[in-house]
Amino acid sequence: MAVEPVVYGASERPPRGDYRRAGADYTCRQDYAAYTPADHDTYRRLYERQAALITGRACDTFIAALPSLGASHHIPRFEDINERLHKATGWEIVGVPGLIPEVPFFTLLANRKFPVTDWIRAPEEFDYIVEPDIFHDLFGHVPLLFNPVFADHMQEYGKGGLKAHGLDACELLSRLYWYTIEFGLIRQGDGLRAYGAGILSSPGELRHAVESVQPQRLPLDIERVMRTRYKIDSFQQTYFVIDSFQELFDKTAPDFTPVYARVKQQAELAADERAVAA
Ligand code: PHE
Ligand code: FE
Repeated sequence: MAVEPVVYGASERPPRGDYRRAGADYTCRQDYAAYTPADHDTYRRLYERQAALITGRACDTFIAALPSLGASHHIPRFEDINERLHKATGWEIVGVPGLIPEVPFFTLLANRKFPVTDWIRAPEEFDYIVEPDIFHDLFGHVPLLFNPVFADHMQEYGKGGLKAHGLDACELLSRLYWYTIEFGLIRQGDGLRAYGAGILSSPGELRHAVESVQPQRLPLDIERVMRTRYKIDSFQQTYFVIDSFQELFDKTAPDFTPVYARVKQQAELAADERAVAA
């Protein structure tokens, strides 16, 4: 079966990645031999820059799990990570050529498989890349999959995505993904920290999200999240804060069917819309 490439939103850019390598479930083997010395060097430099910024900014759970990715001076092999990850939480990472459509994405998550883009950005994209590459996917997403509560949440998200697909609510659910799994903040004993992958893999956003006085930070409110549009090409103007991964799990556990119905009746909120003080 031929699979179609996927791009974010309406875009004139050609899709990245070679989708001819993907099977019907959109996964592909990590083509380790295809990485050049420059690719490994890009990974090493990205890792080094980001690792130097996480103290006091990334949550403790992330910092504790980061070494589980293995070597930081070259691109890791998925099979090496999987040996540790599978033992820790029963999750596994699988290679994909880039963004994949909703249903195959949710299906993988529901089966405790996390899709990781297998190519790395070009040197001229060192500071900024719009679509996820292997650095974002591995460094940003995979450490928290070693945490049992977060790991269970990701699987529930996958199952919830398949359900949302049938309810025509994928866009609402994708906002939840955006404002939690990608750009979530967590309050721990010694202060505010990041757990979202989009923050943790970006040097600029990591400082902005945790330290800037400019963005608004609201307690996680599922309906507000689902109403709030998001921007993919600038720092976030609104972040949602949890106190624990258990809170994230518990707040997303109820049946979303009536939630989607309610949210569809309400006006959308702009990404920078300020909450009215209670
Ligand atoms: N509880 C949600 C539902 O019933 C599913 C879900 C779980 C969504 C966890 C996101 C995260 O649709
Ligand atoms: Fe991501």
